[in-house]
Amino acid sequence: MSVSLVILAAGQGSRMLSDLPKVLHPLAGVPLVVHAMRTGRVLEPARVVVVVGHGGEQVAKVVSAEDDSAHVVSQDQQLGTAHAVAQAREALAGQGGDVVVLYGDTPFIRPETLQAMQAARAAHDLVVLGFDAVDPGRYGRLVTTGDRLERIVEFKDATEDERAISLCNSGVLCADGARLFELIDAVGNDNAAGEYYLTDIVGLARARGLSAGVVRCDEAETLGINTRAELASAEAAFQARARSDAMESGVTLTAPETVIFAQDTVIGRDALVEPYVVFGPGVTVESGATIRAFSHLEGAHVSRGAVVGPYARLRPGAELAEDVRIGNFVEVKAAQIDEGAKVNHLSYVGDAHVGARANLGAGTVTCNYDGVFKHRTEIGEGAFIGSSTMLVAPLRVGAGAVTGSGSVITQDVAEGALALGRARQDTKPGLGKRLMDRLRAAKAAQTKG
Ligand code: UD1
Ligand code: MG
Repeated sequence: MSVSLVILAAGQGSRMLSDLPKVLHPLAGVPLVVHAMRTGRVLEPARVVVVVGHGGEQVAKVVSAEDDSAHVVSQDQQLGTAHAVAQAREALAGQGGDVVVLYGDTPFIRPETLQAMQAARAAHDLVVLGFDAVDPGRYGRLVTTGDRLERIVEFKDATEDERAISLCNSGVLCADGARLFELIDAVGNDNAAGEYYLTDIVGLARARGLSAGVVRCDEAETLGINTRAELASAEAAFQARARSDAMESGVTLTAPETVIFAQDTVIGRDALVEPYVVFGPGVTVESGATIRAFSHLEGAHVSRGAVVGPYARLRPGAELAEDVRIGNFVEVKAAQIDEGAKVNHLSYVGDAHVGARANLGAGTVTCNYDGVFKHRTEIGEGAFIGSSTMLVAPLRVGAGAVTGSGSVITQDVAEGALALGRARQDTKPGLGKRLMDRLRAAKAAQTKG
């Protein structure tokens, strides 16, 4: 049966005290709303609808960048969670199948939990994700009889007895789409908050003889982000788990507590990650590669046997083949570096292709930007680029070619050629010493006077 996702992301998140909509604050390098979208992907949703409100345009951009088939719908006034889901009705018209509701500010729900909810739909018309709260606080409470869920009561509307219930509502639920919207139509706003509560659909369903069930998850999964402090502790929780997952899958972390992962970092077995390495989004490091201390990687692929750093920076589109060496203070952006090539010191390689076993000397720079346009540099297999060569793109350096140190290369260099682009050296015998003697004498005269 097909499943669609509705992700609620219209709330202002006023407690963040931010100009950025809450769901765009990054956790593990990725906006909160994208975490929800990626978790939902396990259900292979036929349609994804994100309900936006505050900062809607900004949120829509991020949503489409993640999934260009996702539908973004606006909820102009935040009248409650049922009203928010109702905004997705048109986008889901004719879709059929189930709808799973997720929150854009709740990034830790596990894919397995959504699968368990989907499985539980075999036994119930409506499935709600609940958790046993250590401190139930202001969460909605799940009122049950045995295994059956009877209704959900919001904290503000709950009696003392109901507030004593520790089984709480996570907000995630799953039902047949047509049925869900029918029930939502019956929701009113006569309650303590004056809002259209999505949670009311449980009681309404039960009154119509439908069944409702609860799938339980760990409280940590349902953690929602409302403040900067909660965001920071969510980040800490994410990092702790990512580090232990990496080690459990065979990655060596010399000082795990200093390594920062992104939501989608992939590191192969027997890779070594030294202290203080930061992984931004979109990094894959293959088995047996080494990332040395203080390196920063983002949108990069590092193949087997490659060594990166210390103090290296790989930016989006850095593609390192096997056994490549990227050394200290080297930046690589949108560049393919072929097998065994070396860029070991103080270099910038951007919009480039470096052939296998080429060697770029210290201080090599691909001058890729003319102030308006970006241009490419092609360096052939086995080329040797002398230290401090400026490669002014667009440029091709042929296989096995050599450039002299300190050259500014502006014209293509043929295969096997030697290119020198620097002023010829002029040496004046004895002049160095004479010059220094004169300067020292001038200084001595000054101190006397
Ligand atoms: C909601 C649940 C509560 C549950 C809790 C879990 C309801 C009525 N209550 O309460 O049972 O224990 O979540 O965290 O559903 N949103 C919109 N549009 C709106 C209102 C909300 O998009 O008009 C979004 C918010 O941005 C947020 C989510 O829905 O992502 C939940 O809204 P929130 O106001 O936080 O609900 P709670 O009062 O926390
Ligand atoms: Mg909330």
